[in-house]
Amino acid sequence: MKKVRLRLGSNSYDICVGSGLLTQTGQQLKKIGFSDRLVIITDPIVKSLYGNTLKQSLASGGFKVIILEVPEGEEQKSLETAARLYSELSSFHTERTTPILALGGGVIGDLAGFVAATYLRGVPLIQIPTTLLAQVDSSIGGKVAVNHGQLKNKIGAFYQPRLVISDINALKTLPGEEFINGLAEVIKSAVVWDKEFFDFLERSLDKIKSLDDRALEEIVFRSARIKAEVVEKDEKDLGLRSILNYGHTVGHAIESALDFKIAHGRAVAVGMLVAGRISNKLGMLDKNELIRLEDVIGRAGLPTAVPNLKLEKVIQAIEHDKKILRGKIRFVLPRAIGEVFITDEVSLSLIEQVLVG
Ligand SMILES: NC(=O)c1ccc[n+]([C@@H]2O[C@H](COP(=O)([O-])OP(=O)(O)OC[C@H]3O[C@@H](n4cnc5c(N)ncnc54)[C@H](O)[C@@H]3O)[C@@H](O)[C@H]2O)c1
Repeated sequence: MKKVRLRLGSNSYDICVGSGLLTQTGQQLKKIGFSDRLVIITDPIVKSLYGNTLKQSLASGGFKVIILEVPEGEEQKSLETAARLYSELSSFHTERTTPILALGGGVIGDLAGFVAATYLRGVPLIQIPTTLLAQVDSSIGGKVAVNHGQLKNKIGAFYQPRLVISDINALKTLPGEEFINGLAEVIKSAVVWDKEFFDFLERSLDKIKSLDDRALEEIVFRSARIKAEVVEKDEKDLGLRSILNYGHTVGHAIESALDFKIAHGRAVAVGMLVAGRISNKLGMLDKNELIRLEDVIGRAGLPTAVPNLKLEKVIQAIEHDKKILRGKIRFVLPRAIGEVFITDEVSLSLIEQVLVG
């Protein structure tokens, strides 16, 4: 098992990464001082795959377990579902010391995290992410949220978990598309922060895609370490943390232009490439590095071309975001692999030029 310590004073916590960790969860929770009852929030797919293993591990640690189930899907990240969970928690008379374990992907992590942050003004939260995206990104850093109307992820809090347990074995049952989706965030982490990690990805993509244990442990561990380092420096997302939005400005505009009928990771991959090409046109990112970026994205199984869509719609979506940001389009651009900068000096015409290729 590998460990990353995320240091935030009294809110510091460990992120544990390894194979078979679900079976050790009971012991680990005892070690950090929990006993008695706890609540697992999960969805039916994850419950059927991992519910029993986790329950047994918790029972062997002497815990009594309550499982609350939420149907899978982004629609469940809602105030209505949170309200239902509050009622269920109350019907079991859970207390302020009763931890909530979020067992699942980013949807469960965000929703259960939101409930943990708000129920009884905050109960302990343990993140047990089971998708690649959740292990490398969403379970770390304390952003918890639900959606409300057009407000995606906008009703929420910064609420750090007490522990993150990433069992890489869970990645082996993920649908291929979900795994590839998560790889976009892995590549993002390397490009924004760690050139050496990018070299590792280049060398190891085949092993990663064949779900080799050591390769999986390495990508989850290294991405978690990068996210932890960034969050330690900017927990509340007031500056540096926005580098993690690399690929997301254009990525989000593409998702919106395609009515969200494209996977998030695929849209982010295109966004990362567009940002790379913009940087190259501005005389920053070297052509060779741009080619390496394109190569890794393509070999990961992510798109390297802008999908077929109406360009005006992408520009409209970017302009819509621009309005929200008081007239500025903020771009995270790679200066080189492993180093990014933030600028609001990218013109719409340059974006258009790069989008049409
Ligand atoms: N809080 C943050 O910092 C942050 C960051 C990025 C994304 N997010 C959020 O994360 C969410 C997306 O998360 P996601 O990509 O994990 O999707 P998801 O949570 O919807 O999970 C995808 C699907 O995989 C299934 N699944 C989960 N684990 C599995 C496993 N081990 N084997 C087989 N199937 C499994 C789930 O049941 C679900 O159907 C979005 O709501 C997004 O807003 C949050």
